[in-house]
Amino acid sequence: MGASIPTLGIYVHFPWCVHKCPYCDFNSHPLKDGLQEQPYTQALLADIDGSRELLASRNITSVFFGGGTPSLFSPQSFRQVLSALGVTNCGPQPEITIEANPGTREYHGFEGYRSVGINRLSLGAQSFSDKALKRLGRIHCADETLRAFADARVAGFDNINLDIIYGLPEQTPAETLDDLGKAIELGPEHISWYELTLEPKTEFHRRPPVLPAEDSMLEMESAGRALLQAAGYVRYEVSAWAKPDHQSAHNLNYWLFGDYAGFGAGAHGKISDSAGVRRTARASQPRLYMNDPAHQVVTELDASRLRFEFLLNALRLPDGVPFVDLSKATGLDTAVLEPEWSQGVARGLLRKDRIATTALGFVYLDGVLQSFL
Ligand SMILES: C[S@@+](CC[C@H](N)C(=O)[O-])C[C@H]1O[C@@H](n2cnc3c(N)ncnc32)[C@H](O)[C@@H]1O
Ligand code: SF4
Repeated sequence: MGASIPTLGIYVHFPWCVHKCPYCDFNSHPLKDGLQEQPYTQALLADIDGSRELLASRNITSVFFGGGTPSLFSPQSFRQVLSALGVTNCGPQPEITIEANPGTREYHGFEGYRSVGINRLSLGAQSFSDKALKRLGRIHCADETLRAFADARVAGFDNINLDIIYGLPEQTPAETLDDLGKAIELGPEHISWYELTLEPKTEFHRRPPVLPAEDSMLEMESAGRALLQAAGYVRYEVSAWAKPDHQSAHNLNYWLFGDYAGFGAGAHGKISDSAGVRRTARASQPRLYMNDPAHQVVTELDASRLRFEFLLNALRLPDGVPFVDLSKATGLDTAVLEPEWSQGVARGLLRKDRIATTALGFVYLDGVLQSFL
Protein backbone atom coordinates (compact mmCIF):
# COMPACT_ATOMS: atom_id res chain seq x y z
CA MET A 1 0.00 0.00 0.00
CA GLY A 2 1.36 3.46 -0.94
CA ALA A 3 -0.14 5.39 1.97
CA SER A 4 2.27 7.68 3.86
CA ILE A 5 2.80 7.26 7.64
CA PRO A 6 0.40 9.68 9.31
CA THR A 7 0.50 11.48 12.64
CA LEU A 8 -1.58 10.27 15.58
CA GLY A 9 -4.54 11.59 17.53
CA ILE A 10 -5.27 10.03 20.93
CA TYR A 11 -8.73 9.34 22.33
CA VAL A 12 -9.08 8.30 25.99
CA HIS A 13 -12.50 7.22 27.24
CA PHE A 14 -13.96 7.75 30.74
CA PRO A 15 -17.06 5.59 31.03
CA TRP A 16 -18.96 6.93 34.06
CA CYS A 17 -21.60 9.64 34.50
CA VAL A 18 -23.49 10.83 37.57
CA HIS A 19 -26.70 9.87 35.80
CA LYS A 20 -27.53 8.37 32.39
CA CYS A 21 -29.26 10.92 30.13
CA PRO A 22 -32.30 9.44 28.36
CA TYR A 23 -31.12 10.42 24.85
CA CYS A 24 -27.51 9.22 25.15
CA ASP A 25 -26.09 6.10 23.51
CA PHE A 26 -22.46 6.76 24.40
CA ASN A 27 -20.59 4.12 26.38
CA SER A 28 -21.49 5.72 29.70
CA HIS A 29 -22.54 4.01 32.90
CA PRO A 30 -24.30 5.58 35.89
CA LEU A 31 -22.22 5.84 39.03
CA LYS A 32 -23.77 3.13 41.17
CA ASP A 33 -20.81 1.67 43.03
CA GLY A 34 -18.82 4.87 43.20
CA LEU A 35 -16.12 6.05 40.85
CA GLN A 36 -13.32 3.55 40.40
CA GLU A 37 -10.78 6.22 39.69
CA GLN A 38 -7.60 4.47 40.86
CA PRO A 39 -8.16 1.05 39.24
CA TYR A 40 -9.41 2.65 36.05
CA THR A 41 -6.42 4.99 35.80
CA GLN A 42 -4.08 2.04 36.42
CA ALA A 43 -5.86 0.13 33.62
CA LEU A 44 -5.41 3.11 31.29
CA LEU A 45 -1.69 3.22 32.09
CA ALA A 46 -1.35 -0.53 31.33
CA ASP A 47 -3.36 -0.09 28.12
CA ILE A 48 -1.13 2.79 26.99
CA ASP A 49 1.99 0.82 27.89
CA GLY A 50 0.79 -1.96 25.56
CA SER A 51 1.00 0.54 22.66
CA ARG A 52 4.38 2.04 23.49
CA GLU A 53 5.92 1.06 20.12
CA LEU A 54 3.15 2.78 18.22
CA LEU A 55 3.37 5.87 20.44
CA ALA A 56 7.15 6.04 20.04
CA SER A 57 6.88 5.95 16.25
CA ARG A 58 4.35 8.76 15.76
CA ASN A 59 3.92 12.45 16.54
CA ILE A 60 0.89 13.04 18.74
CA THR A 61 -1.14 15.92 17.30
CA SER A 62 -4.11 15.88 19.68
CA VAL A 63 -5.40 14.22 22.84
CA PHE A 64 -9.13 14.02 23.61
CA PHE A 65 -10.45 12.96 27.02
CA GLY A 66 -14.06 11.99 26.25
CA GLY A 67 -16.88 10.19 27.94
CA GLY A 68 -18.95 9.56 29.79
CA THR A 69 -17.89 12.37 32.06
CA PRO A 70 -14.10 12.72 32.27
CA SER A 71 -14.54 15.68 34.65
CA LEU A 72 -15.44 13.17 37.40
CA PHE A 73 -11.72 12.26 37.46
CA SER A 74 -9.14 14.35 39.27
CA PRO A 75 -6.37 16.32 37.53
CA GLN A 76 -3.81 13.90 39.01
CA SER A 77 -5.23 11.03 36.89
CA PHE A 78 -4.92 13.12 33.73
CA ARG A 79 -1.35 14.03 34.67
CA GLN A 80 -0.48 10.33 34.91
CA VAL A 81 -2.17 9.52 31.59
CA LEU A 82 -0.49 12.42 29.77
CA SER A 83 2.87 11.45 31.17
CA ALA A 84 2.36 7.81 30.04
CA LEU A 85 1.51 9.12 26.56
CA GLY A 86 4.77 11.09 26.58
CA VAL A 87 2.93 14.42 26.44
CA THR A 88 4.66 16.73 28.89
CA ASN A 89 3.98 20.29 29.95
CA CYS A 90 7.18 21.58 28.29
CA GLY A 91 7.59 22.76 24.71
CA PRO A 92 4.87 23.07 22.08
CA GLN A 93 1.69 21.34 23.21
CA PRO A 94 -0.78 19.39 21.08
CA GLU A 95 -4.45 20.28 21.46
CA ILE A 96 -5.57 18.53 24.68
CA THR A 97 -9.33 18.55 25.27
CA ILE A 98 -11.40 17.45 28.23
CA GLU A 99 -15.17 17.02 28.09
CA ALA A 100 -16.89 18.36 31.18
CA ASN A 101 -20.45 18.25 32.41
CA PRO A 102 -21.37 21.67 33.91
CA GLY A 103 -22.92 19.77 36.83
CA THR A 104 -19.48 18.50 37.88
CA ARG A 105 -17.93 21.99 37.90
CA GLU A 106 -17.25 21.95 41.62
CA TYR A 107 -15.89 18.39 41.84
CA HIS A 108 -12.28 19.27 41.05
CA GLY A 109 -12.27 22.86 39.72
CA PHE A 110 -10.88 23.76 36.31
CA GLU A 111 -7.51 25.17 37.45
CA GLY A 112 -6.19 21.68 38.12
CA TYR A 113 -7.03 20.47 34.61
CA ARG A 114 -5.36 23.53 33.11
CA SER A 115 -2.27 23.04 35.29
CA VAL A 116 -1.65 19.49 33.99
CA GLY A 117 -1.58 20.81 30.41
CA ILE A 118 -5.19 20.40 29.27
CA ASN A 119 -5.73 23.41 26.99
CA ARG A 120 -9.22 22.97 25.55
CA LEU A 121 -12.53 22.46 27.39
CA SER A 122 -15.72 21.05 25.89
CA LEU A 123 -18.75 21.84 28.07
CA GLY A 124 -21.97 19.85 27.64
CA ALA A 125 -24.34 22.84 27.91
CA GLN A 126 -27.10 21.30 25.70
CA SER A 127 -29.63 24.11 26.36
CA PHE A 128 -30.05 27.23 28.49
CA SER A 129 -33.67 26.46 29.31
CA ASP A 130 -34.11 24.82 32.72
CA LYS A 131 -37.31 23.22 31.49
CA ALA A 132 -35.49 21.63 28.53
CA LEU A 133 -32.54 20.55 30.68
CA LYS A 134 -34.91 18.78 33.04
CA ARG A 135 -36.56 16.91 30.17
CA LEU A 136 -33.12 15.90 28.94
CA GLY A 137 -32.38 14.43 32.38
CA ARG A 138 -29.40 16.76 32.85
CA ILE A 139 -27.87 17.11 36.30
CA HIS A 140 -27.37 20.89 35.96
CA CYS A 141 -29.40 24.01 35.37
CA ALA A 142 -28.57 26.86 32.99
CA ASP A 143 -27.01 28.98 35.76
CA GLU A 144 -24.50 26.23 36.50
CA THR A 145 -23.41 26.24 32.86
CA LEU A 146 -22.89 30.01 33.02
CA ARG A 147 -20.86 29.60 36.23
CA ALA A 148 -18.85 26.71 34.74
CA PHE A 149 -18.03 28.80 31.69
CA ALA A 150 -16.94 31.76 33.82
CA ASP A 151 -14.86 29.49 36.11
CA ALA A 152 -13.15 27.95 33.08
CA ARG A 153 -12.17 31.37 31.75
CA VAL A 154 -10.78 32.36 35.16
CA ALA A 155 -8.82 29.08 35.21
CA GLY A 156 -7.17 30.12 31.94
CA PHE A 157 -9.11 28.14 29.34
CA ASP A 158 -8.98 30.29 26.20
CA ASN A 159 -10.30 27.56 23.91
CA ILE A 160 -13.79 26.41 24.92
CA ASN A 161 -16.43 24.44 23.05
CA LEU A 162 -20.11 24.41 24.02
CA ASP A 163 -22.25 21.41 23.01
CA ILE A 164 -25.80 22.55 22.20
CA ILE A 165 -28.63 20.28 21.01
CA TYR A 166 -31.61 21.51 18.97
CA GLY A 167 -34.84 19.84 17.93
CA LEU A 168 -35.52 19.12 21.61
CA PRO A 169 -38.88 17.72 22.76
CA GLU A 170 -41.60 20.31 22.02
CA GLN A 171 -38.96 22.97 21.31
CA THR A 172 -40.05 25.96 19.19
CA PRO A 173 -37.75 27.73 16.70
CA ALA A 174 -37.73 30.76 19.03
CA GLU A 175 -36.45 28.56 21.88
CA THR A 176 -33.74 27.06 19.65
CA LEU A 177 -32.56 30.55 18.72
CA ASP A 178 -32.66 31.62 22.36
CA ASP A 179 -30.32 28.73 23.27
CA LEU A 180 -27.92 29.57 20.46
CA GLY A 181 -28.07 33.27 21.29
CA LYS A 182 -27.15 32.60 24.93
CA ALA A 183 -24.29 30.34 23.84
CA ILE A 184 -23.00 33.00 21.44
CA GLU A 185 -23.25 35.67 24.14
CA LEU A 186 -20.71 33.74 26.21
CA GLY A 187 -18.24 33.96 23.30
CA PRO A 188 -16.92 30.36 23.15
CA GLU A 189 -14.30 29.67 20.48
CA HIS A 190 -16.29 26.67 19.22
CA ILE A 191 -19.90 25.53 19.21
CA SER A 192 -20.99 21.96 18.43
CA TRP A 193 -24.60 22.32 17.36
CA TYR A 194 -26.23 18.88 17.23
CA GLU A 195 -29.69 17.84 16.11
CA LEU A 196 -31.29 15.56 18.72
CA THR A 197 -31.37 12.00 17.41
CA LEU A 198 -33.38 9.17 18.96
CA GLU A 199 -30.72 6.48 19.25
CA PRO A 200 -31.65 2.79 19.55
CA LYS A 201 -31.42 1.36 23.09
CA THR A 202 -31.95 4.75 24.76
CA GLU A 203 -34.81 5.76 27.01
CA PHE A 204 -35.99 8.31 24.40
CA HIS A 205 -36.11 5.54 21.80
CA ARG A 206 -38.18 3.30 24.06
CA ARG A 207 -40.54 6.15 25.03
CA PRO A 208 -40.21 8.77 22.27
CA PRO A 209 -40.95 12.34 23.34
CA VAL A 210 -42.90 14.68 21.08
CA LEU A 211 -40.38 16.20 18.69
CA PRO A 212 -40.80 19.40 16.65
CA ALA A 213 -42.52 19.03 13.26
CA GLU A 214 -40.40 18.98 10.10
CA ASP A 215 -41.22 22.56 9.07
CA SER A 216 -40.18 23.77 12.55
CA MET A 217 -36.92 21.85 12.23
CA LEU A 218 -36.18 23.46 8.85
CA GLU A 219 -36.87 26.88 10.33
CA MET A 220 -34.56 26.15 13.31
CA GLU A 221 -31.79 24.99 11.00
CA SER A 222 -31.82 27.91 8.61
CA ALA A 223 -32.29 30.58 11.31
CA GLY A 224 -29.70 28.90 13.57
CA ARG A 225 -27.12 28.76 10.77
CA ALA A 226 -27.70 32.45 9.99
CA LEU A 227 -27.28 33.37 13.69
CA LEU A 228 -24.01 31.45 14.03
CA GLN A 229 -22.64 32.92 10.80
CA ALA A 230 -23.57 36.46 11.80
CA ALA A 231 -21.71 35.93 15.09
CA GLY A 232 -18.51 35.00 13.22
CA TYR A 233 -18.64 31.21 13.53
CA VAL A 234 -17.72 29.18 10.45
CA ARG A 235 -19.26 25.79 9.85
CA TYR A 236 -16.47 23.34 9.01
CA GLU A 237 -18.36 20.06 9.58
CA VAL A 238 -22.02 19.00 9.75
CA SER A 239 -22.35 20.04 13.43
CA ALA A 240 -19.11 21.92 14.13
CA TRP A 241 -18.82 25.71 14.12
CA ALA A 242 -15.63 27.57 15.02
CA LYS A 243 -14.21 31.05 15.26
CA PRO A 244 -11.27 31.48 12.83
CA ASP A 245 -8.26 29.31 13.83
CA HIS A 246 -10.27 27.41 16.43
CA GLN A 247 -11.35 24.31 14.53
CA SER A 248 -10.86 21.20 16.65
CA ALA A 249 -7.62 19.54 15.51
CA HIS A 250 -8.76 16.27 17.08
CA ASN A 251 -12.08 16.08 15.29
CA LEU A 252 -10.60 17.31 11.99
CA ASN A 253 -8.15 14.40 12.19
CA TYR A 254 -11.12 11.97 12.26
CA TRP A 255 -12.83 13.65 9.34
CA LEU A 256 -9.59 13.78 7.32
CA PHE A 257 -9.21 10.04 7.98
CA GLY A 258 -6.10 10.47 10.08
CA ASP A 259 -4.88 7.80 12.48
CA TYR A 260 -5.85 7.73 16.14
CA ALA A 261 -5.27 5.39 19.05
CA GLY A 262 -8.16 4.75 21.42
CA PHE A 263 -7.56 3.88 25.08
CA GLY A 264 -10.15 3.08 27.72
CA ALA A 265 -13.41 1.11 27.91
CA GLY A 266 -15.04 0.78 24.49
CA ALA A 267 -12.50 3.12 22.85
CA HIS A 268 -11.98 2.73 19.12
CA GLY A 269 -8.80 3.38 17.17
CA LYS A 270 -7.79 3.49 13.52
CA ILE A 271 -4.21 2.74 12.56
CA SER A 272 -2.58 2.53 9.14
CA ASP A 273 0.79 1.05 8.25
CA SER A 274 2.41 -0.79 5.37
CA ALA A 275 0.10 -3.77 6.02
CA GLY A 276 -3.09 -1.74 5.55
CA VAL A 277 -5.66 0.03 7.71
CA ARG A 278 -7.19 -1.55 10.79
CA ARG A 279 -9.71 -0.59 13.42
CA THR A 280 -9.22 -1.47 17.07
CA ALA A 281 -11.84 -1.72 19.83
CA ARG A 282 -11.43 -2.26 23.57
CA ALA A 283 -14.03 -4.03 25.77
CA SER A 284 -16.96 -1.69 26.49
CA GLN A 285 -17.85 -2.81 30.00
CA PRO A 286 -15.60 -0.99 32.48
CA ARG A 287 -15.21 -4.16 34.58
CA LEU A 288 -14.14 -6.31 31.61
CA TYR A 289 -11.84 -3.56 30.40
CA MET A 290 -10.16 -3.22 33.79
CA ASN A 291 -9.60 -7.01 33.93
CA ASP A 292 -7.68 -6.99 30.64
CA PRO A 293 -7.01 -3.43 29.49
CA ALA A 294 -4.77 -4.12 26.50
CA HIS A 295 -7.14 -6.70 24.99
CA GLN A 296 -8.47 -5.40 21.70
CA VAL A 297 -10.50 -6.64 18.78
CA VAL A 298 -8.71 -5.76 15.55
CA THR A 299 -10.55 -5.51 12.23
CA GLU A 300 -8.71 -5.08 8.93
CA LEU A 301 -10.53 -2.78 6.51
CA ASP A 302 -10.88 -4.17 2.99
CA ALA A 303 -10.97 -1.84 -0.05
CA SER A 304 -14.75 -1.48 -0.09
CA ARG A 305 -14.92 -0.69 3.64
CA LEU A 306 -12.02 1.74 3.31
CA ARG A 307 -13.74 3.59 0.47
CA PHE A 308 -16.94 3.91 2.48
CA GLU A 309 -15.28 4.98 5.72
CA PHE A 310 -13.12 7.56 3.95
CA LEU A 311 -16.22 9.13 2.36
CA LEU A 312 -18.23 8.86 5.58
CA ASN A 313 -15.69 11.21 7.18
CA ALA A 314 -14.54 13.46 4.31
CA LEU A 315 -18.05 14.28 3.08
CA ARG A 316 -18.97 15.65 6.53
CA LEU A 317 -16.71 18.60 5.67
CA PRO A 318 -18.62 21.19 3.60
CA ASP A 319 -15.51 21.71 1.42
CA GLY A 320 -14.50 18.05 1.42
CA VAL A 321 -10.91 17.20 0.43
CA PRO A 322 -8.86 17.02 -2.80
CA PHE A 323 -9.10 13.71 -4.71
CA VAL A 324 -5.43 13.02 -3.97
CA ASP A 325 -6.21 12.69 -0.23
CA LEU A 326 -7.98 9.40 -0.87
CA SER A 327 -4.81 7.67 -2.03
CA LYS A 328 -2.66 9.47 0.56
CA ALA A 329 -4.85 8.22 3.40
CA THR A 330 -5.83 4.78 2.10
CA GLY A 331 -3.56 3.80 -0.78
CA LEU A 332 -6.70 3.42 -2.95
CA ASP A 333 -6.86 4.83 -6.47
CA THR A 334 -9.65 7.35 -7.18
CA ALA A 335 -10.99 4.89 -9.80
CA VAL A 336 -12.53 2.98 -6.84
CA LEU A 337 -15.08 5.80 -6.47
CA GLU A 338 -16.63 4.93 -9.82
CA PRO A 339 -19.28 4.55 -11.14
CA GLU A 340 -21.10 6.01 -8.11
CA TRP A 341 -19.12 9.26 -8.12
CA SER A 342 -20.03 10.15 -11.75
CA GLN A 343 -23.66 9.26 -11.03
CA GLY A 344 -23.65 11.59 -8.02
CA VAL A 345 -22.11 14.39 -10.13
CA ALA A 346 -24.78 13.90 -12.81
CA ARG A 347 -27.51 14.19 -10.15
CA GLY A 348 -26.00 17.45 -8.86
CA LEU A 349 -25.09 15.92 -5.46
CA LEU A 350 -21.32 15.55 -5.78
CA ARG A 351 -18.56 17.81 -7.11
CA LYS A 352 -16.41 16.99 -10.11
CA ASP A 353 -13.28 18.81 -8.94
CA ARG A 354 -12.83 17.32 -5.42
CA ILE A 355 -14.18 14.80 -2.92
CA ALA A 356 -17.04 16.95 -1.68
CA THR A 357 -20.79 17.24 -1.94
CA THR A 358 -22.53 20.15 -3.62
CA ALA A 359 -24.68 22.32 -1.33
CA LEU A 360 -27.63 20.10 -2.30
CA GLY A 361 -25.68 16.89 -1.64
CA PHE A 362 -24.73 18.21 1.83
CA VAL A 363 -28.43 18.45 2.71
CA TYR A 364 -28.95 14.83 1.59
CA LEU A 365 -25.66 13.50 2.97
CA ASP A 366 -27.09 10.25 4.37
CA GLY A 367 -28.56 9.30 0.99
CA VAL A 368 -25.33 10.22 -0.81
CA LEU A 369 -23.33 7.97 1.53
CA GLN A 370 -25.81 5.09 1.15
CA SER A 371 -25.00 4.94 -2.56
CA PHE A 372 -21.40 4.00 -1.67
CA LEU A 373 -22.31 1.22 0.77
C1 LIG B 1 -20.00 12.57 25.59
S1 LIG B 1 -21.13 13.83 25.55
C2 LIG B 1 -20.35 15.28 26.32
C3 LIG B 1 -19.81 15.37 27.71
C4 LIG B 1 -20.68 15.11 28.90
N1 LIG B 1 -20.91 13.71 28.99
C5 LIG B 1 -21.98 15.86 28.88
O1 LIG B 1 -22.96 15.33 28.39
O2 LIG B 1 -22.02 16.97 29.42
C6 LIG B 1 -21.04 14.43 23.91
C7 LIG B 1 -22.16 15.28 23.37
O3 LIG B 1 -22.92 14.59 22.42
C8 LIG B 1 -24.19 15.18 22.30
N2 LIG B 1 -25.19 14.12 22.22
C9 LIG B 1 -25.22 12.98 22.93
N3 LIG B 1 -26.30 12.22 22.56
C10 LIG B 1 -26.96 12.92 21.61
C11 LIG B 1 -28.14 12.68 20.83
N4 LIG B 1 -28.86 11.58 20.99
N5 LIG B 1 -28.52 13.62 19.94
C12 LIG B 1 -27.78 14.75 19.76
N6 LIG B 1 -26.66 15.02 20.46
C13 LIG B 1 -26.25 14.12 21.37
C14 LIG B 1 -24.38 16.06 23.51
O4 LIG B 1 -24.37 17.41 23.09
C15 LIG B 1 -23.17 15.76 24.36
O5 LIG B 1 -22.71 16.87 25.05
S1 SF4 C 1 -23.61 13.12 30.80
FE1 SF4 C 1 -22.98 13.04 28.61
S2 SF4 C 1 -22.10 10.98 28.28
FE2 SF4 C 1 -23.17 10.98 30.27
S3 SF4 C 1 -25.16 10.12 29.82
FE3 SF4 C 1 -25.35 12.36 29.66
S4 SF4 C 1 -24.89 12.91 27.48
FE4 SF4 C 1 -24.23 10.78 27.85
